[in-house]
Amino acid sequence: MKGIILAGGSGTRLYPITIAVSKQLLPVYDKPMIYYPLSVLMLAGIREILFITTPHDQASFKKLLGDGSELGCNFDYAIQDEPNGLAEAFIIGKEFIGHDKVALVLGDNIFYGNGFGSLLRSKINLKGASIFAYPVKDPQRYGVVEFNNDNKAISIEEKPEKPKSRYAVPGLYFYDNKVVEYAKNVQPSARGEKEISALNQMYLDDGALEVGVMTRGMSWFDTGTVESLDDATEFIRVIQNRQSAMIGCIEEVAYQRGFIERSTLIELSGKYGKSKYGEYLKELAKSI
Ligand code: TTP
Repeated sequence: MKGIILAGGSGTRLYPITIAVSKQLLPVYDKPMIYYPLSVLMLAGIREILFITTPHDQASFKKLLGDGSELGCNFDYAIQDEPNGLAEAFIIGKEFIGHDKVALVLGDNIFYGNGFGSLLRSKINLKGASIFAYPVKDPQRYGVVEFNNDNKAISIEEKPEKPKSRYAVPGLYFYDNKVVEYAKNVQPSARGEKEISALNQMYLDDGALEVGVMTRGMSWFDTGTVESLDDATEFIRVIQNRQSAMIGCIEEVAYQRGFIERSTLIELSGKYGKSKYGEYLKELAKSI
């Protein structure tokens, strides 16, 4: 399975912060936002990852993440000229995906929870598509899943004025290779975007969409507004300091997943200067 991180967009809800800087490069507590969704794909065991960014931000992402080889991964980069919607990821990423399955994660989504790694790894052999549903207070901001009395998903609507449930679809999606064909058929919505909900609805109509409800044990944040960005920062700060373990530490995940050796972990700790992040990696390498 390949992975795509969609890290373009315009970030207008965070203006003026994001006028000159990509949202996904902003800090969430002690590391750039993009580390969190990247660590999710790596946790799933995915090593070939495409970063889709705006034309002007690509150089910064390359500077931060390089070609992935030091993490035992292979990173590719592609440009989305305009924020034409999430489903465009599979049009831009067509060649990168080739004949493989693909996971998409949004660059501004953060996940944390018990059993999340195993949940992710269970998706690697999927048939059809697999997405999640998460209860939220403000479902009208998201794609919303409607369930019938047998808890079966029956519709998905993008940002509905009158949501049919409180279940939002988080920005983490798994697809078989048909997604490349399906994406071509997605027409722009009334707001002019190729919506991922339209793609998910196609799989649903085919009887090939699995919707897993994320329970209370899972935390999901999107960081598109000042409040939610601040909430995410606070959450990461509190959990990390309480548990003395990092969330979204890409070198740690690379080591855990067997992508890199302990000696590489020690080497990599050197690149983070005097930061706490670097200290954490040094301590980690000592303790294993
Ligand atoms: P959004 O938060 O929906 O959009 P945005 O980032 O442009 O922000 P705003 O609404 O404040 O203007 O995007 C969700 C994620 O998907 C985010 O990480 C950016 C990314 N994205 C793209 O890469 N391309 C797109 O066409 C869109 C719509 C979003």
